[in-house]
Amino acid sequence: MFHFYPWRCDPLRCGYPRAMSFGLGHGRELVVAGIGRSQRELPPAESGRLGPSYFFPGRPDSPFELEIGSGKGTFLLQEAPKHPDVNFLGIEYAGEFYRYAADRLRRAAMPNVQMLYADAVEFVTHWLQDGCCSVVHLYFSDPWPKARHHKRRVVQDATLAQFHRVLRPGGELRLVTDHDALWAWYEDHISRNAHLFDRVEFERPASASEGEVVGTNFERKYRREGRPFHAATLRRRGM
Ligand SMILES: C[S@@+](CC[C@H](N)C(=O)[O-])C[C@H]1O[C@@H](n2cnc3c(N)ncnc32)[C@H](O)[C@@H]1O
Repeated sequence: MFHFYPWRCDPLRCGYPRAMSFGLGHGRELVVAGIGRSQRELPPAESGRLGPSYFFPGRPDSPFELEIGSGKGTFLLQEAPKHPDVNFLGIEYAGEFYRYAADRLRRAAMPNVQMLYADAVEFVTHWLQDGCCSVVHLYFSDPWPKARHHKRRVVQDATLAQFHRVLRPGGELRLVTDHDALWAWYEDHISRNAHLFDRVEFERPASASEGEVVGTNFERKYRREGRPFHAATLRRRGM
């Protein structure tokens, strides 16, 4: 049995801030057909867990990577063509960003990318199969700086246990942030969950440009502001 958390409400029903308009389409219709689907369209979580074949029926045996909080989709747009053998699922719960990213990726016509309009924590926890992911990418996740909002951060002890469950042996959770307090939170959670993950060096993705850590929109914006970045890779322990 699962329930929606009030701050992680059904993205199709919730209002501010997720329904607010950022004018990302600049008046152009954003088309998600063929590449995007919503959490509402998924079969009921109670009917069984989903694996890569649900999203990529024609390529069920390819490695499967998740990106949580895809924003405008820049990471997937850059990284997916570098790994045509890998299936990438981007998850975004802000409706306009989801539609913008999906439309952008659809126009790039890549067979190895799909987008999901959903709360990634709910999706991973209630829908995703054990051991099906090679990598979970979490870049510039919302820091939720107020103490009363810390429960909204993606990284929690409970979500680390879920990432451990959905990653294959040796699979990786890759984290990058500019936010010092969020980084301290990550460090605490990493130490407390050292039985689940080995910490290894973060390797820049193939698509990062010279001098970039990962090359997302937020990294580029924050780099212009001169902010330093923190990065870690957690490698799943155990069989
Ligand atoms: C600060 S932005 C970073 C976007 C992108 N990763 C980048 O680096 O440019 C964080 C994004 O994660 C999304 N997000 C935060 N929590 C999420 C969750 N639980 N499920 C899905 N998307 C989430 C937000 O809507 C937002 O678009």
